[in-house]
Amino acid sequence: MSSLLIRNARIVNEGRIDESDLLLEQGRIAAIGGDLGDRSAAQTLDAAGRWLLPGLIDDQVHFREPGMEYKADIASESAAAVAGGITSFFEMPNTKPPALDAAAVEDKYRRAEGRARANYAFYLGASHDNEEALASIDTTTIPGIKIFMGSSTGNMLVDDPEVLARIFARVRVPIATHCEDTPRIQAREREFRERYGDDALTAGHHPQIRDHEACWNSSSFAVELARRHGAQLHVLHLTTAREMELFEPGPIAGKQVTAEACIHHLMFDERDYAALGNRIKCNPAIKSAEDREALLQAVREDRIDILATDHAPHTLEEKGQRYVDAPSGMPLAQDFLPALLDLVHREALSIEQVVEKACHNVARRFGVVERGFVREGYWADLVLVDPEARTAVSDDTALAKCGWSPFAGRVLQGRVDATLVGGEIAWRDGQLTDAVAGRRVAFERRGP
Ligand code: DOR
Repeated sequence: MSSLLIRNARIVNEGRIDESDLLLEQGRIAAIGGDLGDRSAAQTLDAAGRWLLPGLIDDQVHFREPGMEYKADIASESAAAVAGGITSFFEMPNTKPPALDAAAVEDKYRRAEGRARANYAFYLGASHDNEEALASIDTTTIPGIKIFMGSSTGNMLVDDPEVLARIFARVRVPIATHCEDTPRIQAREREFRERYGDDALTAGHHPQIRDHEACWNSSSFAVELARRHGAQLHVLHLTTAREMELFEPGPIAGKQVTAEACIHHLMFDERDYAALGNRIKCNPAIKSAEDREALLQAVREDRIDILATDHAPHTLEEKGQRYVDAPSGMPLAQDFLPALLDLVHREALSIEQVVEKACHNVARRFGVVERGFVREGYWADLVLVDPEARTAVSDDTALAKCGWSPFAGRVLQGRVDATLVGGEIAWRDGQLTDAVAGRRVAFERRGP
């Protein structure tokens, strides 16, 4: 593996921006210094004052492999990821078959080897009857356990309070939850279908069916369970203002309960359903402009600890069905960092906050070994971005296999100029390179 000298970068890391050079050797950051011009390297990259960030670690993606390769696979979606500044991803268990034991998780690791352009890790899913698998897995091999406490794509709902209580009492790795109250959603859906008829329902009804109360009932229950049983809870993709009161403001260190917001819930609100329809149908639903503003405020207050995508591709054909038949979820990986940079440009977030929540805090929360920071000795997972340049998004340039983006037609302020995975340039100047450099992410566990 060749060496690379990056000159004249503005490194955004651990709350600061420093003008610096970086020397990369053997896939790792060998040196960071004001002027490394006297060091020799096989290649040089002039950052010309652009921002250099740690590569983003996306803790929530659905890459559909095995079982739904017609819409996505690890190779295609990891290509979209590196284009979007993501150098590591944690993939969800709602595949076919679902990842419900160590063997299924290891099967995914084998599939990723030599095919993933970004570093990879796979969650173990919970079901009503896999408590032994949850208890016996080597916890250094997974980011955590995923529980669908509300039903979504795939059939992985765990809603029996006794089973949930046992899992929360026993599992000591992060428990990542999808929180929505399924009985309430089912009742609302029945009511809406009767009132309007299936043909008249549209994506605009989605946040009324999957409503605020459905989110609150489930996320408040999850937090209560975690507090009662001492579990490490990470509540995924929060969408409502009221839920923000469930989470404490402040640094992530020492938090037992952490919170995540996803890029689509920060970039869209219910006014967008009219133009985008089922393309932005997702679970939990995109809600009001006030909710979106409250989420951004919670990110700024450090109530939201982690930013992610919930990249969840479906084909346009599937999305083109009636609202009631169209699946939930959208591809987001490729637009992740450009959209975050757009929020920085609009002064909704600072670039330091983006790095804290899309890089450092993910590494801290999940115990990621030697990634998520720009530090000597760490893996050289890095992103070079130009905040002055723009990204024009279109379906034609989408790398996700489903071939579309919810941001199509928009111009985002900020551009990913290069993404490095383990010191290898995976994306440069709008093009994928030949590098397929993803490695297995390692986790350290410090006990309860
Ligand atoms: O909208 C969603 N789509 N939410 C989820 O929780 C699952 C995801 C998917 O897998 O399609």
